[in-house]
Amino acid sequence: MSKTPAKGKQTNTLFSYFQKTPKSETKNTGKSGTDEVLSPRRSPNDRSKTPSAGKKTSPSIKATEANEFSEGDLVWAKLEGFPFWPSLVCNHPTDKVHCKGGKTKQVHVQFFDSPPSRAWIKERYVKPFKGSNDESFQKGGQFYTLNTQVNKGVKEADEALKIDKKDRLSLVVDLLPSSDEEEEENEEENMDLDPTIFDTEMSDEDISKENHSSKAEDSKETSPRKRKSMSPQKPRRKAAKEAVLKNKRRRIMVKSESGDEDSEDDFKPVSSEDDDDDDSASELDENEISDVEPESEPESPVKEPRKRKAPGRGTPASNKKSIAVLDSGKKPAFSPSVSNNTKTKLSLFSAPENAGDDSGQKDASSYFHVSLDFLQPDKLRDNTRKLKSDPDYNPRTLYVPESFLNKQTPAMRQWWEIKTKHFDTVLFFKVGKFYELYHMDAVVGVREVGLIFMKGDFAHSGFPEIAYNRYADALVQKGYKVGRVEQTETPEMVTERCKNMARSANKYDKVVKREVCQISTQGTRTYSHLDGDIGDHTSKYILAFCAKVGQFEDDRHLSRFRTLVAHYTPTQILYERGKTSPNTMQLINANLLSALKEGLTPGSEFWESSKTLKTLAEEAYFKSEDGEITWPEAIKLMLSESDTLGLTASDAYDLAVRSLGAIVWYLQYCLLDEELLSMKKFETYMPVDVSEHRAQGAQSGAQAIKQRHMVLDGVTMSNLDVVWNSTTQSTEGTLLERLSYCSTAFGKRLFHQWLCSPLCQKQAIYDRLDAVGDLLEAPSVMEESVTILKKMPDLERLLSRIHAIGSSGRRKNHPDTRAILYEEVTYSKRKIEDFLATIEGFKLAMTLTAACSGAATNFKSKLLKQTVCVQGAEPDNADARFPDIDDDLKFFESSFDHKKAKKEGVIVPSKGVDKDYDQAIADIKDVEGRLQTYLDKQKSVLNCKNLVYWGTAKNRYQIEVPETALKNIPHQYELMSSKKGAKRFRTSDIEEMLAELTDAEDRKDTCLKDIMRRIFHNFDLKHRKWTAVVECLSVLDVLISLATYSRGGEGDLCRPEFVMPEEGAQPFLEIREGRHPCVSRTFEGGDFIPNDTIIGTKDDQDEDGDSSYSEGQVVLVTGPNMGGKSTLMRQVGLITIMAQMGCYVPAQKCRLTPIDRIFTRLGASDRIMAGESTFYVELSETSSILQHATKHSLVLMDELGRGTATYDGTAIACAVVKELSKTVGCRSLFSTHYHSLVGEFQLDRNVRLGHMACMVENENEEDPSQETITFLYKFVKGACPKSYGFNAARLAHLPEEVIQSAVKKSREFEQSVYSCKMFRNLWCSSSAQEIQKAF
Ligand SMILES: Nc1ncnc2c1ncn2[C@@H]1O[C@H](COP(=O)(O)OP(=O)(O)OP(=O)(O)O)[C@@H](O)[C@H]1O
Ligand SMILES: [Mg+2]
Repeated sequence: MSKTPAKGKQTNTLFSYFQKTPKSETKNTGKSGTDEVLSPRRSPNDRSKTPSAGKKTSPSIKATEANEFSEGDLVWAKLEGFPFWPSLVCNHPTDKVHCKGGKTKQVHVQFFDSPPSRAWIKERYVKPFKGSNDESFQKGGQFYTLNTQVNKGVKEADEALKIDKKDRLSLVVDLLPSSDEEEEENEEENMDLDPTIFDTEMSDEDISKENHSSKAEDSKETSPRKRKSMSPQKPRRKAAKEAVLKNKRRRIMVKSESGDEDSEDDFKPVSSEDDDDDDSASELDENEISDVEPESEPESPVKEPRKRKAPGRGTPASNKKSIAVLDSGKKPAFSPSVSNNTKTKLSLFSAPENAGDDSGQKDASSYFHVSLDFLQPDKLRDNTRKLKSDPDYNPRTLYVPESFLNKQTPAMRQWWEIKTKHFDTVLFFKVGKFYELYHMDAVVGVREVGLIFMKGDFAHSGFPEIAYNRYADALVQKGYKVGRVEQTETPEMVTERCKNMARSANKYDKVVKREVCQISTQGTRTYSHLDGDIGDHTSKYILAFCAKVGQFEDDRHLSRFRTLVAHYTPTQILYERGKTSPNTMQLINANLLSALKEGLTPGSEFWESSKTLKTLAEEAYFKSEDGEITWPEAIKLMLSESDTLGLTASDAYDLAVRSLGAIVWYLQYCLLDEELLSMKKFETYMPVDVSEHRAQGAQSGAQAIKQRHMVLDGVTMSNLDVVWNSTTQSTEGTLLERLSYCSTAFGKRLFHQWLCSPLCQKQAIYDRLDAVGDLLEAPSVMEESVTILKKMPDLERLLSRIHAIGSSGRRKNHPDTRAILYEEVTYSKRKIEDFLATIEGFKLAMTLTAACSGAATNFKSKLLKQTVCVQGAEPDNADARFPDIDDDLKFFESSFDHKKAKKEGVIVPSKGVDKDYDQAIADIKDVEGRLQTYLDKQKSVLNCKNLVYWGTAKNRYQIEVPETALKNIPHQYELMSSKKGAKRFRTSDIEEMLAELTDAEDRKDTCLKDIMRRIFHNFDLKHRKWTAVVECLSVLDVLISLATYSRGGEGDLCRPEFVMPEEGAQPFLEIREGRHPCVSRTFEGGDFIPNDTIIGTKDDQDEDGDSSYSEGQVVLVTGPNMGGKSTLMRQVGLITIMAQMGCYVPAQKCRLTPIDRIFTRLGASDRIMAGESTFYVELSETSSILQHATKHSLVLMDELGRGTATYDGTAIACAVVKELSKTVGCRSLFSTHYHSLVGEFQLDRNVRLGHMACMVENENEEDPSQETITFLYKFVKGACPKSYGFNAARLAHLPEEVIQSAVKKSREFEQSVYSCKMFRNLWCSSSAQEIQKAF
């Protein structure tokens, strides 16, 4: 009896127990075996194509009690809780009657369902079936239904109606009643096994099958489990069973070896046999999970699904009975619990609202672990016994008392031991083919991802291996760490190990070894074959940082750090525990709320730079196969020149290397280090605002912009909603959402990067714009490319998967290489599918270049040309970047039979692909040939033509000699075996050749086992080429995306024009008829009004022609509330980002000198979490602007100073405008409601006045609230004297009384200001004449 069920078979699923009418089209007439998982449980004894069921049942047609129905009748039968279902009257398989009397007459029917099922139905619920055309089935009729399953059944019944009544019996599927308990007991007797195995491992594994029970199913029937008696303590167990059954608990406590059998504290493995009724939730399979849709849960009349035995698992004896059994006939076929069944099943997929209900489940808070002393919050210690209050407490670990561990069963002990090292991780603990979650992890599983608790005293839940991805992903997304713990031994290996032990094995030795194979967190989520589909295309960053004054210069507000996290928003952050400044911690806590933050112990976890480099050198990450280290370029640059061994970091990079050390440690901890680091993808991050440029800018007065990219800092990114809308916490309404039309996942990632760092150099920008133009001129190329790109898989991530598998050879010590995976074949298939998808993807890429090649000659853009032209294809295009991968593809395409590999999950290399394999095959052929020649020779020696080789495996190649030829047997013939009329011999020659053959076959097998890795490895060796292709594809995708936007649709778009400062231009910006790229509708639902924005240059459309006036670098924007000031400022910011990214912009004209950085101070926001008040945030941002802005920057300041008292605010605003216009001299838009500011700068030549126009009707000095303001949303010259706040108040539906009271107050204020003014004038007047004038 094997402990592990047959690999690869998915037949043993919950489907086998929880019947659900499958959605498949399969006809359920019983004509075919259909899907084993879901369907007809025809007797395995009856596997013939033509159902013999009819034959079996027909002889048993006998006279029944006088009854309205007879065998073969087609009827409508209604089972409680289900609609009338088309059915066929037939004999009960064992009772051999179709009708039984008693108080209530019952008719035995087979439902036309898929799979077919049967039941006894009360006669009054059985009605004749007259075909679908009968009015009873028409709308309004008794049997009319929209249920698709019923309708399907009706179609089948219609077909049956056409045939002779007797012949219909051939439709009866042979279903046996559930095995009776008698038989079960017998089987138990027969199958008692070595108790030791099951007390430890076996029963441990069976927990899943036993306890993965969904909520109580109230069936009174018992159905034999796949596995039978496994414990020696049957009598006690039987008693226990009865007791347990009474409580509807199916777990049986097996006496633990400690003797402490009833202790609640013990994890008690359960024997499977006892748990007849509890079919495991673990036995769900992937398909089922995804298939179940509560709404579509078909109302199948199949009521006792659990009574079915899933084929392909369990004992041979039970396999014999692994037949669908619907009703025994002795008991009510369908207990009311069946609908509970469905409910239970549904509950598997929903939040467990009733986790503590009456079905035997407990409230999460009453589970065993909750009472454990060492888990009490105030007593928690880490594994070095430090209390939580200790600053060095390590929350990743847990102290578990030895005395407690000693009380655990071996497997539970393993779990707790792993938990001591991974306290903060939800452990998916492999037991057979299931991942199990225990105690606190089970609670998380139930609460967060809808698993359900098993019955029992300790919290426990689980799911089948194949669903790993689903649950791991869900938990990781919710911020949990998930640890995958695999069995790394088979029971056979355990036995072998125990046998070889010097001492006698104890119970802890007899448990299979389990090891943590992977820890997944938000930042370390890789996309391996276990993780299934790659859905999410966004990049996931993990950031480690450490700080010391001097190396990563930053201002007091950590602007650079903010920018770093805005551009590469980390999902996980590693910091030095106890060494990180409160300022930085605050910033992280406030800005990166959702990121997982983990403190590492300085030194042992957050390594010193020397330890980091030593580890990197010693481990195999950068070593080639001959052991030579090749440092990745980026790391090489960080090494100290004075240290030739390369084990010291240069001073400038010491901290960077330390941070890298933290990452390496963490990757090791997650068991991902080799997989990721060996890809050697390292890049140095430079703060976007390289320090030199400020010096060159404003201060030195130099005109040149040297930097390559525009700086978009964290504040600006969030203020302008560039990639993330922090208000809605989504990408809704962001520039990214508006502009990205990328078709591929890698294109989307590149687009994100391009958007975060627009260009500054005219040439580069123009090249992109040219590309957009080229593409717009070749719409058919664009269309074709998009069609091809849309079909591309995520090649970038597939390449890393292939790398991970290909490099697994070096990961010999990785526990995953030892893991016993139940779904190995599925994963093999997935790996092969991925590989094939990759090859397909690259083939598509080649077709893409072909599609573009014609048009490419006309392309103006160098970038576009480089991207689509294949290297070497045209000698004159030396810059072509697209590598020629044709030959490589052909090689890998023909390296094995793809179809076969996909189907079987095994790669058999074609000739020439793998030398060792080819050699082994050649050797096999050669030996086989020689063996044949040898036989022919023997035929002449013995003078007998009838010699043949006989035997298989070890016994093969025995020469079978008929009796007649025995007299000629040479003496070297050695007798091996005999049969009547013949004897079989071997000779030393044969033995020798056989040894050769076996050796060659072994070599072949070894090759085959490793062939996938080798092929993947060979593929990975060319990663430079593949990566280059992906880069080209990404660029093309992004350019096409820009072109798609630029093609327009909603209003004019124009190609921006740039003038470089070197060309003698002062920084300026001229946008004509510009629109906000993300707003197309207005507050009232009207069209968006385009606006001109001219800064730093003469407005040649200004009729007044006051040139000096219009050249001001600072524009003071006034206007009514709700007039569109903020919108205008954001619009200007976004348009310039788009322009410098190389995109057409929503305007009629857009000319500018490149902007080196956009600064924004928009809207009121406070960071209470970061200990910063509204006004503080305002001033911090302003301060950062004044410090960092250069002449080439763009500053957008919205209502600075409104966060404080009017006078203070006005004063600060005034001072800042002065600073901007006089000292910094950068392009600025400054909006304000402080009208006194306007007066201040009215005559300032550096400051230009503009306002959002509005129309005032019913102007009323007395009561301004009666005025009607019509917003014109037109940005025009000059100042607006008033803000018309009452109008906004009315629009916002402020109560009329409040408005009136405000109007009154406003008049009072005005009056007092007026009086003050008068008084001052009066006071200052010296003559009567002046006094008179003052009034
Ligand atoms: N150019 C425009 N065309 C049409 N509608 C616009 C335009 N600009 C703004 N709006 C509409 O006006 C609304 C208010 O705009 P905005 O927030 O920019 O006003 P504001 O002047 O900044 O007001 P406040 O002074 O109260 O801050 C926007 O939500 C938008 O619906
Ligand atoms: Mg505003």
